[in-house]
Amino acid sequence: MKTQVVIIGAGPSGLLLGQLLYKNGIDAIVIERQSSEYVLARIRAGVLEQVMVELLEEAGIAQRLHQEGLVHDGFDIVFNQDRLHIDLKELTGGKTVTVYGQTEVTKDLMQARSKAGLTTVYGAQDVELVDIDSHNPKVRYTLDGKTHEVVAELIAGCDGFHGVCRASIPKSSIQEFERVYPFGWLGVLADVPPVQHDLIYGNHPDGFYLCSLRSERRSRYYLQTTTNDSVENWSDERFWDTLEQRLPIDLRVSLTKGPSIEKSIAPLRSFVAEPLRYGNLFLAGDAAHIVPPTGAKGLNLAASDIRYLSRAFIEYFKDKSSAGIDFYSQKALSRIWKGERFSWWMSMLLHQFPENSSFDKKIQETEFNYLKSSEAAQRVLAENYVGLSYD
Ligand code: FAD
Ligand code: PHB
Repeated sequence: MKTQVVIIGAGPSGLLLGQLLYKNGIDAIVIERQSSEYVLARIRAGVLEQVMVELLEEAGIAQRLHQEGLVHDGFDIVFNQDRLHIDLKELTGGKTVTVYGQTEVTKDLMQARSKAGLTTVYGAQDVELVDIDSHNPKVRYTLDGKTHEVVAELIAGCDGFHGVCRASIPKSSIQEFERVYPFGWLGVLADVPPVQHDLIYGNHPDGFYLCSLRSERRSRYYLQTTTNDSVENWSDERFWDTLEQRLPIDLRVSLTKGPSIEKSIAPLRSFVAEPLRYGNLFLAGDAAHIVPPTGAKGLNLAASDIRYLSRAFIEYFKDKSSAGIDFYSQKALSRIWKGERFSWWMSMLLHQFPENSSFDKKIQETEFNYLKSSEAAQRVLAENYVGLSYD
Protein backbone atom coordinates (compact mmCIF):
# COMPACT_ATOMS: atom_id res chain seq x y z
CA MET A 1 0.00 0.00 0.00
CA LYS A 2 1.18 3.57 -0.74
CA THR A 3 0.06 6.88 0.76
CA GLN A 4 1.38 10.39 1.36
CA VAL A 5 1.30 10.31 5.17
CA VAL A 6 1.12 7.47 7.69
CA ILE A 7 -0.15 8.57 11.09
CA ILE A 8 0.65 6.24 13.98
CA GLY A 9 -1.92 6.50 16.80
CA ALA A 10 -5.63 7.36 16.71
CA GLY A 11 -5.74 9.51 19.84
CA PRO A 12 -6.71 13.19 19.49
CA SER A 13 -3.34 14.11 17.87
CA GLY A 14 -3.48 11.48 15.14
CA LEU A 15 -7.16 11.93 14.33
CA LEU A 16 -6.96 15.72 14.26
CA LEU A 17 -3.96 15.59 11.92
CA GLY A 18 -5.83 13.15 9.68
CA GLN A 19 -8.83 15.47 9.54
CA LEU A 20 -6.81 18.62 8.74
CA LEU A 21 -4.87 16.78 6.00
CA TYR A 22 -8.12 15.40 4.54
CA LYS A 23 -9.57 18.93 4.41
CA ASN A 24 -6.55 19.89 2.32
CA GLY A 25 -6.72 16.94 -0.05
CA ILE A 26 -3.74 15.02 1.37
CA ASP A 27 -3.94 11.21 1.67
CA ALA A 28 -3.27 9.73 5.07
CA ILE A 29 -3.77 6.38 6.79
CA VAL A 30 -4.12 6.16 10.57
CA ILE A 31 -2.74 3.03 12.28
CA GLU A 32 -3.86 2.36 15.87
CA ARG A 33 -2.88 -0.46 18.21
CA GLN A 34 -6.10 -0.57 20.21
CA SER A 35 -9.76 -1.01 19.19
CA SER A 36 -11.91 2.10 18.69
CA GLU A 37 -13.99 1.10 21.76
CA TYR A 38 -10.86 0.98 23.91
CA VAL A 39 -9.72 4.42 22.70
CA LEU A 40 -13.13 5.89 23.55
CA ALA A 41 -13.22 4.35 27.02
CA ARG A 42 -10.15 6.31 28.21
CA ILE A 43 -11.22 9.23 30.39
CA ARG A 44 -8.67 12.00 30.19
CA ALA A 45 -8.60 15.76 29.72
CA GLY A 46 -11.57 18.12 29.89
CA VAL A 47 -10.56 21.75 29.39
CA LEU A 48 -10.04 23.17 25.89
CA GLU A 49 -8.19 26.43 25.24
CA GLN A 50 -9.95 28.98 23.06
CA VAL A 51 -7.31 28.52 20.33
CA MET A 52 -7.94 24.76 20.34
CA VAL A 53 -11.68 25.33 19.94
CA GLU A 54 -10.87 27.54 16.93
CA LEU A 55 -8.68 24.78 15.48
CA LEU A 56 -11.51 22.25 15.85
CA GLU A 57 -13.78 24.73 14.03
CA GLU A 58 -11.21 24.90 11.23
CA ALA A 59 -11.21 21.09 11.13
CA GLY A 60 -15.00 21.21 10.69
CA ILE A 61 -15.81 19.13 13.77
CA ALA A 62 -16.91 21.74 16.33
CA GLN A 63 -20.69 21.54 15.87
CA ARG A 64 -21.44 19.28 18.87
CA LEU A 65 -18.73 21.02 20.87
CA HIS A 66 -20.61 24.31 20.50
CA GLN A 67 -23.93 22.65 21.44
CA GLU A 68 -22.74 20.66 24.44
CA GLY A 69 -19.45 22.26 25.57
CA LEU A 70 -19.60 24.51 28.63
CA VAL A 71 -17.93 27.89 28.28
CA HIS A 72 -16.03 28.79 31.47
CA ASP A 73 -14.90 32.35 32.04
CA GLY A 74 -13.15 31.75 35.35
CA PHE A 75 -12.07 29.24 38.00
CA ASP A 76 -11.21 29.18 41.72
CA ILE A 77 -7.99 28.46 43.56
CA VAL A 78 -8.42 27.50 47.20
CA PHE A 79 -5.56 27.49 49.69
CA ASN A 80 -6.76 25.87 52.89
CA GLN A 81 -9.99 27.86 53.38
CA ASP A 82 -8.86 30.91 51.43
CA ARG A 83 -10.48 31.26 48.02
CA LEU A 84 -9.30 33.28 45.01
CA HIS A 85 -11.43 33.62 41.89
CA ILE A 86 -9.50 33.94 38.63
CA ASP A 87 -11.69 35.87 36.22
CA LEU A 88 -10.24 34.61 32.95
CA LYS A 89 -12.48 36.74 30.76
CA GLU A 90 -11.77 39.98 32.58
CA LEU A 91 -8.03 39.32 32.87
CA THR A 92 -7.50 38.33 29.22
CA GLY A 93 -9.70 40.83 27.43
CA GLY A 94 -12.56 38.41 26.77
CA LYS A 95 -10.98 34.96 26.41
CA THR A 96 -12.52 31.82 27.91
CA VAL A 97 -11.98 28.03 28.00
CA THR A 98 -14.49 25.30 27.11
CA VAL A 99 -15.20 22.21 29.17
CA TYR A 100 -15.68 19.35 26.69
CA GLY A 101 -14.16 15.92 27.34
CA GLN A 102 -11.28 14.50 25.33
CA THR A 103 -13.49 11.45 24.75
CA GLU A 104 -16.06 13.66 22.99
CA VAL A 105 -13.41 15.34 20.82
CA THR A 106 -12.12 11.87 19.86
CA LYS A 107 -15.66 10.66 19.10
CA ASP A 108 -16.34 13.68 16.86
CA LEU A 109 -13.07 13.13 14.99
CA MET A 110 -13.76 9.40 14.57
CA GLN A 111 -17.23 10.13 13.17
CA ALA A 112 -15.90 12.72 10.72
CA ARG A 113 -13.31 10.19 9.58
CA SER A 114 -15.74 7.38 8.99
CA LYS A 115 -18.25 9.75 7.28
CA ALA A 116 -15.50 10.78 4.83
CA GLY A 117 -14.69 7.10 4.20
CA LEU A 118 -11.10 7.45 5.41
CA THR A 119 -8.98 4.48 6.47
CA THR A 120 -8.19 3.88 10.14
CA VAL A 121 -6.63 0.53 10.96
CA TYR A 122 -7.64 -0.41 14.52
CA GLY A 123 -6.05 -3.34 16.35
CA ALA A 124 -2.73 -3.13 14.46
CA GLN A 125 -0.11 -5.23 16.28
CA ASP A 126 3.71 -5.11 16.18
CA VAL A 127 3.82 -1.73 14.48
CA GLU A 128 7.33 -1.19 13.15
CA LEU A 129 8.94 1.81 11.44
CA VAL A 130 11.38 1.00 8.63
CA ASP A 131 13.87 3.28 6.78
CA ILE A 132 12.60 6.42 8.52
CA ASP A 133 15.72 8.35 7.51
CA SER A 134 15.13 7.58 3.80
CA HIS A 135 12.84 9.18 1.18
CA ASN A 136 10.36 6.31 1.29
CA PRO A 137 9.85 5.35 4.92
CA LYS A 138 7.60 2.37 5.63
CA VAL A 139 5.36 1.17 8.40
CA ARG A 140 4.77 -2.55 8.97
CA TYR A 141 2.11 -4.03 11.21
CA THR A 142 0.23 -7.25 11.79
CA LEU A 143 -3.55 -7.48 11.56
CA ASP A 144 -5.46 -10.76 11.98
CA GLY A 145 -2.19 -12.68 11.71
CA LYS A 146 -1.18 -11.06 8.39
CA THR A 147 1.74 -8.64 7.94
CA HIS A 148 1.03 -5.40 6.06
CA GLU A 149 3.39 -2.71 4.78
CA VAL A 150 2.55 0.92 3.96
CA VAL A 151 5.02 3.10 2.08
CA ALA A 152 4.70 6.84 2.73
CA GLU A 153 6.53 10.10 2.17
CA LEU A 154 6.12 11.34 5.74
CA ILE A 155 5.28 9.63 9.04
CA ALA A 156 3.57 11.33 11.98
CA GLY A 157 4.33 9.79 15.37
CA CYS A 158 1.12 10.48 17.34
CA ASP A 159 1.27 7.30 19.41
CA GLY A 160 1.50 8.70 22.92
CA PHE A 161 4.17 8.44 25.59
CA HIS A 162 4.59 4.64 25.42
CA GLY A 163 4.40 4.41 21.62
CA VAL A 164 6.82 2.95 19.11
CA CYS A 165 7.73 6.15 17.23
CA ARG A 166 9.95 7.97 19.73
CA ALA A 167 11.48 4.61 20.65
CA SER A 168 12.47 4.07 16.96
CA ILE A 169 14.75 7.11 16.96
CA PRO A 170 18.41 6.27 17.73
CA LYS A 171 19.27 7.41 21.26
CA SER A 172 22.13 9.54 19.91
CA SER A 173 19.67 11.59 17.82
CA ILE A 174 17.21 12.56 20.56
CA GLN A 175 17.56 14.26 23.93
CA GLU A 176 15.10 13.77 26.76
CA PHE A 177 14.28 16.16 29.62
CA GLU A 178 12.25 14.81 32.51
CA ARG A 179 10.92 15.49 35.97
CA VAL A 180 8.86 12.88 37.80
CA TYR A 181 6.68 14.16 40.67
CA PRO A 182 6.44 12.26 43.95
CA PHE A 183 2.64 11.78 43.75
CA GLY A 184 -0.22 10.84 41.42
CA TRP A 185 -3.83 11.88 40.78
CA LEU A 186 -6.76 9.65 41.60
CA GLY A 187 -9.60 10.58 39.23
CA VAL A 188 -13.29 9.75 39.65
CA LEU A 189 -16.09 10.28 37.16
CA ALA A 190 -19.65 10.23 38.54
CA ASP A 191 -23.12 11.11 37.30
CA VAL A 192 -23.81 13.69 39.99
CA PRO A 193 -24.13 17.49 39.64
CA PRO A 194 -20.77 19.25 40.14
CA VAL A 195 -20.14 20.94 43.48
CA GLN A 196 -20.14 24.26 41.56
CA HIS A 197 -19.96 25.40 37.91
CA ASP A 198 -16.45 26.89 38.13
CA LEU A 199 -13.51 24.48 38.48
CA ILE A 200 -11.76 24.47 41.86
CA TYR A 201 -8.03 23.79 42.17
CA GLY A 202 -7.32 23.22 45.86
CA ASN A 203 -4.21 23.02 48.01
CA HIS A 204 -5.14 21.32 51.30
CA PRO A 205 -2.67 20.22 54.01
CA ASP A 206 -3.60 16.59 53.17
CA GLY A 207 -3.04 17.08 49.45
CA PHE A 208 -4.24 18.63 46.20
CA TYR A 209 -7.81 18.26 44.91
CA LEU A 210 -9.58 19.36 41.74
CA CYS A 211 -13.30 19.72 41.18
CA SER A 212 -14.10 19.58 37.49
CA LEU A 213 -17.03 18.43 35.39
CA ARG A 214 -18.12 17.13 32.03
CA SER A 215 -21.68 18.53 32.10
CA GLU A 216 -24.15 19.95 34.61
CA ARG A 217 -24.97 16.33 35.53
CA ARG A 218 -21.54 14.69 35.34
CA SER A 219 -18.66 15.51 37.71
CA ARG A 220 -14.94 14.79 37.42
CA TYR A 221 -12.96 14.98 40.65
CA TYR A 222 -9.30 14.35 41.45
CA LEU A 223 -7.32 13.81 44.65
CA GLN A 224 -3.56 13.81 45.17
CA THR A 225 -2.38 10.30 46.09
CA THR A 226 0.94 8.62 46.65
CA THR A 227 2.76 7.13 43.65
CA ASN A 228 2.39 3.54 44.84
CA ASP A 229 -1.36 3.80 45.58
CA SER A 230 -3.92 1.71 43.69
CA VAL A 231 -7.64 2.19 42.92
CA GLU A 232 -8.45 -0.96 44.94
CA ASN A 233 -7.56 1.06 48.04
CA TRP A 234 -10.21 3.64 47.19
CA SER A 235 -13.80 2.61 47.75
CA ASP A 236 -16.32 5.22 46.56
CA GLU A 237 -17.08 5.97 50.21
CA ARG A 238 -13.43 6.67 51.04
CA PHE A 239 -13.07 8.85 47.96
CA TRP A 240 -16.12 11.02 48.73
CA ASP A 241 -15.27 11.37 52.41
CA THR A 242 -11.69 12.41 51.60
CA LEU A 243 -12.82 14.92 49.00
CA GLU A 244 -15.40 16.35 51.41
CA GLN A 245 -12.72 16.83 54.07
CA ARG A 246 -10.49 18.72 51.62
CA LEU A 247 -13.25 21.07 50.35
CA PRO A 248 -13.75 24.52 51.93
CA ILE A 249 -16.31 24.20 54.75
CA ASP A 250 -18.99 26.33 53.02
CA LEU A 251 -18.92 24.11 49.92
CA ARG A 252 -19.30 20.75 51.66
CA VAL A 253 -23.11 20.98 51.71
CA SER A 254 -23.10 21.34 47.90
CA LEU A 255 -21.18 18.10 47.33
CA THR A 256 -23.41 15.41 45.82
CA LYS A 257 -22.00 11.91 46.24
CA GLY A 258 -22.85 8.95 44.03
CA PRO A 259 -21.49 5.76 42.48
CA SER A 260 -18.30 6.22 40.44
CA ILE A 261 -18.44 5.26 36.77
CA GLU A 262 -14.67 5.42 36.29
CA LYS A 263 -11.76 5.49 38.69
CA SER A 264 -8.08 5.64 37.76
CA ILE A 265 -4.70 6.80 39.04
CA ALA A 266 -2.30 8.73 36.80
CA PRO A 267 1.32 9.46 37.67
CA LEU A 268 2.54 13.05 37.24
CA ARG A 269 5.46 13.77 34.97
CA SER A 270 7.04 16.60 32.98
CA PHE A 271 8.85 15.32 29.88
CA VAL A 272 10.12 16.74 26.58
CA ALA A 273 12.01 15.00 23.76
CA GLU A 274 14.06 17.13 21.36
CA PRO A 275 14.09 17.48 18.41
CA LEU A 276 10.65 16.43 17.16
CA ARG A 277 12.01 15.16 13.84
CA TYR A 278 14.20 12.29 12.77
CA GLY A 279 14.48 11.81 9.01
CA ASN A 280 10.90 11.76 7.77
CA LEU A 281 9.37 10.91 11.15
CA PHE A 282 7.72 13.78 13.07
CA LEU A 283 6.63 13.45 16.71
CA ALA A 284 3.54 15.22 18.07
CA GLY A 285 1.46 15.21 21.26
CA ASP A 286 2.24 12.84 24.13
CA ALA A 287 4.74 10.95 21.92
CA ALA A 288 6.97 14.01 22.28
CA HIS A 289 6.07 15.54 25.62
CA ILE A 290 4.10 15.07 28.84
CA VAL A 291 2.89 17.67 31.32
CA PRO A 292 1.36 17.14 34.76
CA PRO A 293 -2.41 17.71 34.28
CA THR A 294 -2.49 20.61 36.77
CA GLY A 295 -2.54 23.30 34.06
CA ALA A 296 -4.93 21.36 31.74
CA LYS A 297 -2.31 21.61 29.00
CA GLY A 298 -1.69 18.02 27.74
CA LEU A 299 -4.45 17.84 25.15
CA ASN A 300 -4.08 21.51 24.26
CA LEU A 301 -0.36 21.14 23.54
CA ALA A 302 -1.12 18.10 21.38
CA ALA A 303 -3.53 20.29 19.38
CA SER A 304 -0.98 23.08 18.90
CA ASP A 305 1.65 20.58 17.68
CA ILE A 306 -0.89 19.33 15.15
CA ARG A 307 -1.68 22.81 13.97
CA TYR A 308 2.02 23.44 13.22
CA LEU A 309 2.55 19.95 11.76
CA SER A 310 -0.52 20.00 9.51
CA ARG A 311 0.50 23.37 8.06
CA ALA A 312 4.04 22.09 7.48
CA PHE A 313 2.79 18.91 5.75
CA ILE A 314 0.33 20.90 3.59
CA GLU A 315 3.15 23.24 2.53
CA TYR A 316 5.31 20.21 1.69
CA PHE A 317 2.72 18.53 -0.54
CA LYS A 318 0.98 21.58 -2.04
CA ASP A 319 3.84 24.07 -2.45
CA LYS A 320 6.60 21.45 -2.75
CA SER A 321 8.44 23.35 -0.01
CA SER A 322 10.38 21.77 2.89
CA ALA A 323 10.58 25.05 4.82
CA GLY A 324 7.63 24.16 7.09
CA ILE A 325 8.76 20.64 7.96
CA ASP A 326 12.31 21.89 8.55
CA PHE A 327 11.05 24.49 11.03
CA TYR A 328 8.33 22.35 12.71
CA SER A 329 10.41 21.11 15.64
CA GLN A 330 11.73 24.52 16.63
CA LYS A 331 8.35 26.20 16.30
CA ALA A 332 6.40 23.56 18.22
CA LEU A 333 9.04 23.24 20.99
CA SER A 334 8.90 26.95 21.73
CA ARG A 335 5.20 26.67 22.66
CA ILE A 336 5.65 23.25 24.31
CA TRP A 337 8.26 24.57 26.76
CA LYS A 338 5.94 27.44 27.75
CA GLY A 339 3.21 24.84 28.47
CA GLU A 340 5.75 22.78 30.44
CA ARG A 341 6.75 25.82 32.49
CA PHE A 342 3.14 26.73 33.27
CA SER A 343 2.12 23.15 34.21
CA TRP A 344 5.20 22.81 36.43
CA TRP A 345 4.41 26.14 38.11
CA MET A 346 0.75 25.21 38.77
CA SER A 347 1.89 21.83 40.12
CA MET A 348 4.45 23.42 42.45
CA LEU A 349 1.83 25.87 43.78
CA LEU A 350 -0.95 23.38 44.43
CA HIS A 351 0.49 20.06 45.66
CA GLN A 352 1.85 18.84 48.94
CA PHE A 353 5.43 17.74 48.27
CA PRO A 354 6.51 15.07 50.77
CA GLU A 355 10.09 16.38 50.81
CA ASN A 356 9.13 20.07 51.29
CA SER A 357 10.87 21.90 54.11
CA SER A 358 9.12 24.52 56.24
CA PHE A 359 10.85 27.12 54.05
CA ASP A 360 9.39 25.56 50.86
CA LYS A 361 5.94 25.61 52.46
CA LYS A 362 6.26 29.31 53.31
CA ILE A 363 7.30 30.08 49.73
CA GLN A 364 4.26 28.16 48.40
CA GLU A 365 1.96 30.10 50.74
CA THR A 366 3.60 33.37 49.68
CA GLU A 367 3.14 32.49 46.01
CA PHE A 368 -0.61 32.20 46.68
CA ASN A 369 -0.70 35.42 48.72
CA TYR A 370 1.15 37.26 45.98
CA LEU A 371 -1.29 35.94 43.39
CA LYS A 372 -4.14 37.16 45.56
CA SER A 373 -2.70 40.64 45.90
CA SER A 374 -1.41 41.20 42.38
CA GLU A 375 -3.58 41.65 39.31
CA ALA A 376 -0.43 41.41 37.20
CA ALA A 377 0.29 37.94 38.61
CA GLN A 378 -3.32 36.88 37.97
CA ARG A 379 -3.06 38.16 34.41
CA VAL A 380 0.02 35.97 33.80
CA LEU A 381 -1.85 32.94 35.14
CA ALA A 382 -4.97 33.71 33.08
CA GLU A 383 -3.03 34.34 29.86
CA ASN A 384 -1.41 30.91 30.14
CA TYR A 385 -4.57 29.08 31.24
CA VAL A 386 -6.72 30.26 28.32
CA GLY A 387 -3.84 29.34 26.00
CA LEU A 388 -1.00 31.31 24.45
CA SER A 389 -1.53 32.33 20.84
CA TYR A 390 -0.26 29.84 18.25
CA ASP A 391 2.31 32.10 16.56
P1 FAD B 1 -2.80 9.60 23.21
O1 FAD B 1 -4.13 10.11 23.59
O2 FAD B 1 -2.02 8.84 24.21
O3 FAD B 1 -3.00 8.73 21.90
C1 FAD B 1 -1.99 7.91 21.38
C2 FAD B 1 -2.62 6.76 20.63
O4 FAD B 1 -1.59 5.94 20.08
C3 FAD B 1 -3.41 5.85 21.55
O5 FAD B 1 -4.69 5.64 21.02
C4 FAD B 1 -2.59 4.56 21.63
O6 FAD B 1 -3.39 3.42 21.80
C5 FAD B 1 -1.89 4.58 20.29
N1 FAD B 1 -0.66 3.81 20.27
C6 FAD B 1 0.25 3.65 21.25
N2 FAD B 1 1.26 2.84 20.85
C7 FAD B 1 0.98 2.50 19.57
C8 FAD B 1 1.65 1.69 18.61
N3 FAD B 1 2.80 1.07 18.90
N4 FAD B 1 1.10 1.55 17.40
C9 FAD B 1 -0.09 2.17 17.09
N5 FAD B 1 -0.76 2.94 17.97
C10 FAD B 1 -0.23 3.10 19.19
N6 FAD B 1 -4.43 16.06 30.03
C11 FAD B 1 -5.10 17.07 30.52
O7 FAD B 1 -4.97 18.18 30.01
N7 FAD B 1 -5.94 16.85 31.59
C12 FAD B 1 -6.12 15.61 32.17
O8 FAD B 1 -6.87 15.45 33.09
C13 FAD B 1 -5.40 14.52 31.67
N8 FAD B 1 -5.51 13.28 32.20
C14 FAD B 1 -4.76 12.25 31.68
C15 FAD B 1 -4.82 10.97 32.24
C16 FAD B 1 -4.03 9.92 31.73
C17 FAD B 1 -4.10 8.54 32.35
C18 FAD B 1 -3.16 10.17 30.63
C19 FAD B 1 -2.29 9.05 30.05
C20 FAD B 1 -3.13 11.46 30.07
C21 FAD B 1 -3.91 12.50 30.60
N9 FAD B 1 -3.87 13.80 30.06
C22 FAD B 1 -4.56 14.81 30.57
C23 FAD B 1 -3.09 14.12 28.92
C24 FAD B 1 -3.91 14.10 27.64
O9 FAD B 1 -4.92 13.14 27.74
C25 FAD B 1 -2.94 13.80 26.53
O10 FAD B 1 -2.07 14.91 26.44
C26 FAD B 1 -3.61 13.52 25.19
O11 FAD B 1 -4.27 12.28 25.24
C27 FAD B 1 -2.55 13.48 24.09
O12 FAD B 1 -3.10 12.98 22.92
P2 FAD B 1 -2.24 12.11 21.92
O13 FAD B 1 -3.15 11.81 20.79
O14 FAD B 1 -0.96 12.80 21.65
O15 FAD B 1 -1.86 10.79 22.72
C1 PHB C 1 -10.59 17.43 33.86
O1 PHB C 1 -11.73 17.88 33.81
O2 PHB C 1 -10.36 16.22 33.67
C2 PHB C 1 -9.45 18.33 34.15
C3 PHB C 1 -9.68 19.69 34.24
C4 PHB C 1 -8.62 20.55 34.52
C5 PHB C 1 -7.36 20.02 34.71
C6 PHB C 1 -7.13 18.67 34.62
C7 PHB C 1 -8.18 17.80 34.33
O3 PHB C 1 -6.34 20.87 35.01
